[in-house]
Amino acid sequence: MNMSSRKRIVAANWKMNLTVGESELLATEMRSVLTTMPRHCEVVLAPSFPALERLVKAVAGLDSVQIAAQDCAPAIRGAHTGEVSSLVLSELGVQKVIIGHSERRINNKEDHLTLKKKVDVALETGLDIIFCCGETTQQRKEGIHMQIIEQQLKDSLLHLTDTQLASVAIAYEPVWAIGTGLTPTSEQIEEMHGYLRALLNRTSAKVGPTLSLLYGGSCNASNAASIFALENVDGGLIGGASLKADEFMRILNSLPQ
Ligand code: PGA
Repeated sequence: MNMSSRKRIVAANWKMNLTVGESELLATEMRSVLTTMPRHCEVVLAPSFPALERLVKAVAGLDSVQIAAQDCAPAIRGAHTGEVSSLVLSELGVQKVIIGHSERRINNKEDHLTLKKKVDVALETGLDIIFCCGETTQQRKEGIHMQIIEQQLKDSLLHLTDTQLASVAIAYEPVWAIGTGLTPTSEQIEEMHGYLRALLNRTSAKVGPTLSLLYGGSCNASNAASIFALENVDGGLIGGASLKADEFMRILNSLPQ
C-alpha cells in the first residue's frame, strides 16, 4: 500500500458522453458523497468544454473536488480556429487539464511536440496537468512498452523544472485497456508504475517521489480496490465507469484509507 504522502487522485473522464445538462445532473448527484471525501483524496471531474463553467459552480465549496478540461490548445492566444486556450479554462475556474490522452494522440494526430507545447502553456496559465501515456497492443506484443512510455514522457514532459513537475500527475493508460473491458494484470500494472516511478525519481530526486501515478483503462467498481492497493498506484483515471454516480462513488470508496 502507498505509505507515502503522495496525493490520491481519482479522475472522471466523461469524454463526449454527456450533454451539459447531464453533466450538471451527474455532478449534483455526486455532490453529497463528495462532501464527505477525506482531504487527502482529490476527485477530478472532466466534462466536455461547454459544461465546464456550470460544473465549476456545481462543485463550489468542495475543497477536495477539482474540475478538469479534457484538452487545451498548444498556444495561449492567436489564430487557432476552434481551439480552446488554457487561459480561458483558468478564467472559468478550471484547475486541471488532461493532456496526451491516447484518443487525442490517435484520432487527432497529436504528436510529442504538440503535447509538449500544451504542457508548457497549461502550466504557464496556472493549470495542473494529468498527463496520459500508454502503449498499443502491438507495442506490448513487441515488448517495447517500457521504451514507448519512457519516450512519451521524455518527449513532452520531463523537460520541466522541479516546480513545474510538481503540478503534474501521470496516468498510465494502455491503449488496449481503454473502453475494452480488458485490464492488465496487477503484475503488469505494478511493473509499469514501478518503472515510471524510477524514471521520475531519476528525473528529480526531490519531486519524482511525490508525483501521483494513476492507472486508467477499464477500471471499474469491481477491480478498483485491487488496482488501488498496488504500491505505485495512487488512484485512477476512469472513463465509462465514471458515468454513473453510484459506480463512481464505489470506485472512490475503493481507495485505501
Ligand atoms: P475507460 O476509459 O475507463 O472507459 O476504459 C479510461 C480513459 O480513457 O481515460
